[in-house]
Amino acid sequence: MADEERIVPMRLQKFLARAGAASRRGSENLMTAGRVTVNGKVVTELGSKVDPLVDEVAVDGVVVSLADGAVTLMLHKPAGLLTTMSDPFGRSTVAELVPTDRYPGLFPIGRLDQDTTGLLLFSTDGNLGNRLLHPRHHVLKRYVALVESMPTGEQLERLRAGIELDDGPTQPAEARLLSGEEARAARAVLQEPDPPEGSRQYRAAYQRKAARRHVVEIGLREGRKHQVKRMLEAIGHPVAALHRTAFGPLELGCLPRGAWRLLSAEEVATLHRVAGSE
Ligand code: URA
Repeated sequence: MADEERIVPMRLQKFLARAGAASRRGSENLMTAGRVTVNGKVVTELGSKVDPLVDEVAVDGVVVSLADGAVTLMLHKPAGLLTTMSDPFGRSTVAELVPTDRYPGLFPIGRLDQDTTGLLLFSTDGNLGNRLLHPRHHVLKRYVALVESMPTGEQLERLRAGIELDDGPTQPAEARLLSGEEARAARAVLQEPDPPEGSRQYRAAYQRKAARRHVVEIGLREGRKHQVKRMLEAIGHPVAALHRTAFGPLELGCLPRGAWRLLSAEEVATLHRVAGSE
């Protein structure tokens, strides 16, 4: 399975839109009008791709870069939304919750599953996004997971040591069982699925099972698809709800569900530091 989606190389018109040169359509017009160069050569072909880390893109001779006037924000993603800026099937996406009118070119840094909630970063700075997701930088992502029944110490130790998944062994992870106030606080933000329909006995059996759920905190420095769910499934504790509490040095804190906030200059600088930007 692939690592979390990286954003290079990207289509030139997308790069221009993210850099704030024009809207996506306007960027296409700039290209077809012969006003865009990549490494000094005019590029009019709409399918052309560029690598923002390597290529120099200019409009009318003026170099544009993804970091110019960049905006970075965090969203408290609710369950039920896809992590994409548009969906060909018209399903709800995180784009509905972030201010794309005000900040054209915003894109999500990494991905949370449709049913996963919590901290999702967005930026107009493609460079920053790429660096934060690059496996070389080992940026820590922290989650709380509601799991079926209580994992043993030995099972959590297997997660800490690294566990074999169908796409290879995982790196050592942080894993601990939460209890007391920490577990209560985590349960308050975890969005548990609604109990299924069915007979009274069936629903009662489901509720008994749900009452045995426990909260585990997991910290990962890699970002494979469905990784937390697959790791917990592998130790015999399927995930009923998953929530990301931290991305690198940033914590979601008490940002309400569905709300976003701009990062401060200091927070952005800290992100650049963990992402190894100069
Ligand atoms: N791991 C998962 O399984 N799902 C997510 O959404 C994020 C990490």
